[in-house]
Amino acid sequence: MSALPPTNDDSAIWDIWLAQFRLPVVNVNAEVGTFKALSEAALTTDQLAAQLGVNARALAMNLAALCSMGLVEKRLGLWRATHLARTWLHPDGEGYWGYFTKQIDFNTTLRGRLLASLRTGKRAGDVGEGSGDIASRPAEWERGSMSQEAAEGIAKFMHAHSQAPALGAAAQSVFGELASLMDVGCGSGVYGIEIARAHAGLKVVLMDLKEMATEAQKFIERAGIGKQVSTAGVNMFTEAWPHGHDGHFFSNVFHDWSDATCRLLAKSSFDALPSGGRIFLNEILMDDDYTGPFPAAAFSLLMLVGTLGKQYSLAEFRDILGSAGFVDVEAVRTGGGYYSLVSGRKP
Ligand SMILES: C[S@@+](CC[C@H](N)C(=O)[O-])C[C@H]1O[C@@H](n2cnc3c(N)ncnc32)[C@H](O)[C@@H]1O
Repeated sequence: MSALPPTNDDSAIWDIWLAQFRLPVVNVNAEVGTFKALSEAALTTDQLAAQLGVNARALAMNLAALCSMGLVEKRLGLWRATHLARTWLHPDGEGYWGYFTKQIDFNTTLRGRLLASLRTGKRAGDVGEGSGDIASRPAEWERGSMSQEAAEGIAKFMHAHSQAPALGAAAQSVFGELASLMDVGCGSGVYGIEIARAHAGLKVVLMDLKEMATEAQKFIERAGIGKQVSTAGVNMFTEAWPHGHDGHFFSNVFHDWSDATCRLLAKSSFDALPSGGRIFLNEILMDDDYTGPFPAAAFSLLMLVGTLGKQYSLAEFRDILGSAGFVDVEAVRTGGGYYSLVSGRKP
């Protein structure tokens, strides 16, 4: 018996690791008073944030996770605690579970980070927690360079969680309509490599910071696909973007950055594409009303504690891409786990 080759769907593995957010997000919201407040009144996110003294952006991400677990619901823009939360999570209720759920929550690190982020709107690494482990590593690329050792670690980390969704993305026939695709913020390059494998006529350039591009080159060699795929070490914020590609592909890149930075990225892409060029964002999408689903909401909490971003909805991406000039923005589920491929076109 030996290892089996990857398939396009590893969502069961995602469910296992994302499950770690369930109990801490409940405990953190019990602590700041979310369930009590929403049992007593229907409130907007901003009203609730003001009442609890927490950060509204972080609260929106928390509420989405709680909603996807059936603890709060949103109607006409107002949040309310559900029957479940009013019965078991209201601190004045006879059935209050909070005394138990906090003590049984051994994931104190994550709970501390979620609480810090909810209160301040800043991620854990910026408020004195979380340096040194994987959740604080993204800060390294925010400096625009990283050690080769860090790049190697991040490439392996990203490669593991991107293998299945890369196969899902690669199966999309739209890539066969392109001549040359640039995989921006490529990490290990797993997406560009799988897309190239699935579309023999397509040239692919894997673009990332130079240390990461060096790592991606190793994956190209391992895949034996050097005739079709090459690398470019480019800082997407400070250096000129290569021209000559009719498609730009970003996977898990926009979710690392704020709305304002995503708009800058979309504009840089727009300017570097020819007329008719396509932009692709491979992401786990939030529902348009930001109420779940749980995998997206939990992944978004990871972004909250570890990056400057969040998981976006198609509605938000349409606005971001539209602001740069892209049209025909749409999304399809790729079959690559929980991922969707958002696309837009430069007129
Ligand atoms: C979350 S990883 C995604 C990697 C890969 N696309 C995937 O989905 O597996 C984000 C990537 O963006 C890259 N990145 C961050 N800042 C960058 C910059 N200024 N220029 C180019 N790439 C950058 C990081 O090095 C990292 O590889």
